[in-house]
Amino acid sequence: MSELPFLVLIRDELEQVEQLLRRRPPDTYPAITEAIERLVSSGGKRIRPALVLLSARLCGAGLERALFAAAAVEMLHTATLIHDDLIDGATVRRGQSTLNATHSPAETVLIGDYVFAYAAYLASQTESTRLMCRFAETLMVICQGEVRQMLGGRGGSFSFREYEQRIYAKTASLISLAAEAGAILASADERAVQALRLYGKHLGLAFQIVDDVLDFTADEEMLGKPVGSDLRQGLFTLPFLLFIELEAQHPVARRALEGEYAAGRAPLSEAALYEAVQAVAGSKAIEQAMEIADRHIEWAKEALASPALSSCATDARRDYLIALLELADFVVRRRF
Ligand code: IPE
Ligand code: IPE
Ligand code: MG
Ligand code: MG
Repeated sequence: MSELPFLVLIRDELEQVEQLLRRRPPDTYPAITEAIERLVSSGGKRIRPALVLLSARLCGAGLERALFAAAAVEMLHTATLIHDDLIDGATVRRGQSTLNATHSPAETVLIGDYVFAYAAYLASQTESTRLMCRFAETLMVICQGEVRQMLGGRGGSFSFREYEQRIYAKTASLISLAAEAGAILASADERAVQALRLYGKHLGLAFQIVDDVLDFTADEEMLGKPVGSDLRQGLFTLPFLLFIELEAQHPVARRALEGEYAAGRAPLSEAALYEAVQAVAGSKAIEQAMEIADRHIEWAKEALASPALSSCATDARRDYLIALLELADFVVRRRF
C-alpha cells in the first residue's frame, strides 16, 4: 500500500502511526501483546489512517493529535475484525491465521475487548471531546448493524435498501469518521467537516461493495482471505442480490429463492459453493455492482468539490485534496 502514489505525501506520518500501533503500556499481559503484535504486523491496507492523515493535513490539524486519531481508527478497525472473524468463523485474514483459529472463543472475545478499549484510549489522546463522541457513536452504529444483520436473517433478505443500511453500518460509518476526523481536529468550518464526512460515507459504501464483489471474483492469495465466504455464511450481498434479479431462472438463483443458501440450513457443500461463486462471477451482476460502486465514487468526489474544502486547499495543501480524489479511484480499482 505504501507505494500507492496518494500515500507518498503522508509516508512519514504513516510510519509514525505504525510505531504508535506497536506501542503498548509496559504492564500489558504478554498474550495480549503477542496477539496485537501479530495483527498489526500482518499488514492491511491502512486506508482508514491514511484518510485521517490526509484530512488532517488538508484542514491544517496539529500532527500529534492527527497521529493519535489515525492510530485510534485503525485500532478500532482491528478490534472489529477480531470479533468479525470469530462471528464468521473465518480462519485466515491478511494471509495469516486469525486469532480465533488459534485461541478459544472466550479468549478471542476478551482480546478483542482489550483492543476496543485500547482504541478508545488512543482516541482520548487527541483531547477532542467531539472526536471521542463521534468515535463512540460510530462503534454503536457498527455493533447495531452487526446485530441487525444477524437477527435480520441471513439469506432471507432480498432488499437492496436493507443491504445499503447494513454496509453503511458495518463499513461506511467508520470510513466516514476517518475522513472527517482531521477536519474535526482542525476545528475546520462545519461545512468542511460535513463535506469530508459525506465523502467518507460514499467512499465507504463503494469500499464495501467492492469487498463484496471481490468475495466472488478475487484471487484468494492476493486477497489474503477466502473467496465465497459471504455465501458460505448465508449472507446475500449486492452481487448476489443482483444475480438473483438478473438470472431468476438460473438453478443457483432458484435454489437461493427456495432458501437453500440461508443460514441455519445444512451447510453448503464446497461443490455447491463453487458453482454459485462461478455463476455470479461470470454474470452481469459483477458489472452492475461495480457500476453502483462507481456511482458512489462519483458522489464521493462531488463532496470534495465543496467550496468549504476548496478554501481549505490553499496552494500548499491542494495536493492533499488531490490525494483524496486518487484514493477514491483506488477503492474501485483495487484487487485486494
Ligand atoms: C476489511 O477491511 C473489512 C471490511 C470493511 C471490508 P479492509 O479491506 O480495509 O482490511 P485491511 O485492513 O486492509 O486488512
Ligand atoms: C466486515 O465486513 C466489516 C466489519 C469489520 C464490521 P466483512 O465480513 O465483509 O469483512 P471481511 O470480508 O471479513 O474482511
Ligand atoms: Mg467477515
Ligand atoms: Mg467481505
